[in-house]
Amino acid sequence: MSEIQQQDLQQEHQQYVVPLGDWVRSHNCGALRGTDDGKSVCLMGWVQFRRDHGGLIFVDLRDREGLTQIVFSPETAPKAHESAHILRSEYVLAIKGTVRPRPEGMINAGMPTGEIEIVVEEWKLLNTSKTPPFLIDDRSEINENVRLQYRYLDMRRPHMKDNMILRHKAAQAVRRYMDESGFLEVETPILTKSTPEGARDYLVPSRVNPGQFYALPQSPQIFKQLLMVGGLEKYYQIVRCFRDEDLRADRQPEFTQIDIEMSFVDESQVMTMAEGLVVRMLKDTLGVDVPAPFVRMTYDQAMAEYGVDKPDTRFDLKLKDVTDIVRGSGFRLFATAQLVKAMKVPGGESLSRKEIDDFTDFVRIYGAQGLAWIKVRPDEWQSPIAKFLSDQEREGLAKALDLKEGDIVFFQAGEPSMVNAALGNLRVHLGHYLKLIPEGMFNFLWVTDFPLFEYNEEEKRYVACHHPFTSPAVGHMEKMVSDPGSVKARAYDIVLNGFEVGGGSIRNHSASVQRSMFEALGFSKESYESQFGHLIQALEFGAPPHGGIAFGLDRLVMLLTGSDSIRDVIAFPKTQKATCLMTQAPSEVSNKQLRELNIKLREEAKAEEK
Ligand code: AMO
Repeated sequence: MSEIQQQDLQQEHQQYVVPLGDWVRSHNCGALRGTDDGKSVCLMGWVQFRRDHGGLIFVDLRDREGLTQIVFSPETAPKAHESAHILRSEYVLAIKGTVRPRPEGMINAGMPTGEIEIVVEEWKLLNTSKTPPFLIDDRSEINENVRLQYRYLDMRRPHMKDNMILRHKAAQAVRRYMDESGFLEVETPILTKSTPEGARDYLVPSRVNPGQFYALPQSPQIFKQLLMVGGLEKYYQIVRCFRDEDLRADRQPEFTQIDIEMSFVDESQVMTMAEGLVVRMLKDTLGVDVPAPFVRMTYDQAMAEYGVDKPDTRFDLKLKDVTDIVRGSGFRLFATAQLVKAMKVPGGESLSRKEIDDFTDFVRIYGAQGLAWIKVRPDEWQSPIAKFLSDQEREGLAKALDLKEGDIVFFQAGEPSMVNAALGNLRVHLGHYLKLIPEGMFNFLWVTDFPLFEYNEEEKRYVACHHPFTSPAVGHMEKMVSDPGSVKARAYDIVLNGFEVGGGSIRNHSASVQRSMFEALGFSKESYESQFGHLIQALEFGAPPHGGIAFGLDRLVMLLTGSDSIRDVIAFPKTQKATCLMTQAPSEVSNKQLRELNIKLREEAKAEEK
């Protein structure tokens, strides 16, 4: 049937639509079992599938809880049977009927309601449906843009629906745990002042204050600290945050944090509380027991051995610094590089040239010029660089890397951040490619002792590694000006399977330390007073020592559901270009709205100037 014919038919069927009236659902479509034999029931839902079979019409009726087979029989209820011929996929109906066991041989053990069917006595058409642009099932491969455009249909698919249910359970587990642990749920403003979390702000113009803007919060960081000054002691919130940054599979412009702050604590108390929270979440959502406490690794160790600050320790490959071994090498790149690192892949000798070329392309994303490698063969080292290596260097590498026949070693040489990023990300890529990662594992890890500052090449100055409210490590205050690069922070990240799922720190509760921090970051007194004066002032009124953490709820749920993208666990996400394909946001606004906001678009202003 053509699309037009289908539409005509659907229009025609609209005349059969009737009100719900006083019909009340007795069960959902996942509830009924063999023991319900003989019960009179009323079900409501969507037509998943209709088939006509030997005079009978079978419909799989679907609602949020599952599928139930219903039967329209010409003998039992001729009128109901006759009218059932109009039923099409996604039509909405209510049925009244009786539960009966399915005949011998027709039992579907793969379906919770597979022992029974409902013989329909009466039914109502509650709505018709156009033919959906894709099948409402998990088997079809559907273009994501189409899914996002018709998200309300996508959500009817079992996979998306299950993700939404799991997300709900995760949020409920959080609320239970936090409440039981004495935390107060407090809401903080959405229309607020900029909080620096490293991304650009989303700005909202103020109509009543022409020329002035609110910023949407990148996180409630300052507010939660003010709640501590306010004496609330233990705060949490499941809260939307907004960041205008480059989007990736694990990033959205608006995302949800489980935001937490505590007074009178140090790192270990925040971390123990946070461990309890995720342990509870995994138990209450998936029934999985995760052993706590989690492994703690310093930032320096993570960077040295894994090249990234969020190591995936589910598999064993490690990076090794071999700079000293190849310092005098005949291979100029190695001899002159600031850092040379190697990663041995046991059994990797069988990788083909093509595969190695693909890995080389992969590391280019991280600024690498190429990828050096050595294959350890029984009688020789096969490698484009082998001829440059002296016997002593070979021996040094063989010993340091404990090389065995069949290994391949990848090398990266150059500036440290590039070397670490290239090899660290190649490590994860190889973990997936070579299937080194065990399935179904939830590997939590703390990364601690982050640097307080990182040097920003673009801005040619130090910026806060976490955020400017983070306390320097005990005894490190003195180095803030003399040697900022070496100052450690009382900051910690929580990593799950190689994803940063949370981060936090102990804060500066002393106004003078907070001022020194702003000064070390290059803020003038005027500029930090105008941006953060409200915080500094509050710290002067008896601020208690405090610290906290924020989890990315979307990321956690993405990992709990085994989804590849954060978009699959958000009801209405944005695309990589920060647009909503369903509502078409962002969109232009009327001139009237702009005028009220005292805003002139650049083109318009330019045109007027001419
Ligand atoms: P941070 O900036 O590390 O810390 O954010 C906390 C966690 O939020 C998640 N996250 C995101 N998830 C999806 N999309 C994004 N664009 C995105 N950005 C961050 C990550 C991250 O670990 N105020 C501090 C917390 C604190 O110090 O207590 C903060 O926001 O999982």
